[in-house]
Amino acid sequence: MRRRLPKAAGEVEVEESYEEVPPVALSPELMEWAIENLLSNAVSALDRHPGRIRVAIEHRPKAGVVDVVVQDNGRGMAPADQTHAFEPGFTTKRRGWGLGLALARRVVEEYHAASSTSARAPRAKARRW
Ligand SMILES: Nc1ncnc2c1ncn2[C@@H]1O[C@H](COP(=O)(O)OP(=O)(O)OP(=O)(O)O)[C@@H](O)[C@H]1O
Ligand SMILES: [Mg+2]
Repeated sequence: MRRRLPKAAGEVEVEESYEEVPPVALSPELMEWAIENLLSNAVSALDRHPGRIRVAIEHRPKAGVVDVVVQDNGRGMAPADQTHAFEPGFTTKRRGWGLGLALARRVVEEYHAASSTSARAPRAKARRW
């Protein structure tokens, strides 16, 4: 996981927590790419020391759902931005393309028939599917 973090992410505390889950049919390449995009967003959102990123795989047996969570303690998103975050071309970055989340959502929803959301904890952001 750590080798996936951009080099700029020197002083980031990464917490990984992976539950035992039943076999899930997925494309490793596409999913890896989607998670990489979430990590890259998380790193660029960090604005305090220590920056923290949590990556978790969680199993909710009753719902028959496996969640993949990428969460950071960075600046978070204004509610208005959150409604647009997944739209292609939406970016608040000077050099952003605004494509990461749009494509990650496609990977999750179209290739895996799963769902993706962003959630706002106190100054945190998670993506679940
Ligand atoms: N973890 C996060 N914390 C705060 N804001 C975020 C986070 N992830 C995404 N965003 C917001 O959503 C916008 C869209 O993200 P997205 O990944 O689609 O595009 P981008 O990162 O701006 O550009 P790129 O195409 O290079 O990924 C970002 O510009 C940022 O404003
Ligand atoms: Mg991005």
